[in-house]
Amino acid sequence: MALLNRKDFLALAGVVLLQIGTPFANAATGPSLKPTKFGQTIIWRNKKYTAIKSGKKLVWNKGVALPKPKPTSTPTPSDPPVEHGTFDIDLGAIEEVVEGQTQIFFPKDPHARSKSFFVTRNNALLIAFDSICTHEGCQVWIGIPLLLCACHLSSFNRFTGVPEGGPALKPLKSYPIREEIGRLIITNTY
Ligand code: FES
Repeated sequence: MALLNRKDFLALAGVVLLQIGTPFANAATGPSLKPTKFGQTIIWRNKKYTAIKSGKKLVWNKGVALPKPKPTSTPTPSDPPVEHGTFDIDLGAIEEVVEGQTQIFFPKDPHARSKSFFVTRNNALLIAFDSICTHEGCQVWIGIPLLLCACHLSSFNRFTGVPEGGPALKPLKSYPIREEIGRLIITNTY
């Protein structure tokens, strides 16, 4: 077999490339790959082409642009993260806690979280405690003369929050409270 010189080889290679081509070489008119049957589809450069008849020949139609992929949104958690900080909560009118008495309040904090506090007025001073038992977290209620937890019968002093009976060992958590423009304002810290 005769060997090709460099010039002949390059010429032959050019012919072969022209005959084979690349399936998607013709950017201006659509895919150059020939359709082989009616209804055949092909995706090329973000368009979908379908084989149709033009006279007796099969040709590609004009193509339909493919929909652009939608950007994926970052998932948002269903519950907002707990925000730490200090929040003032309006408990109600100052007349709601009269001298010598204790009241319980169930407000929502600025993040709509339910809270519960005892407020006592003693010698014109206001005292506020959390109403969640320091033993295992049950609700504490107003008893006479103590604050009482029904779960395991802990009792707390309503002026100091210190446990006086039952399994609870720690005092109720206390909070700053003040009167402001006729309202009871408690400062809740997380
Ligand atoms: S949770 Fe209150 S006494 Fe146990």
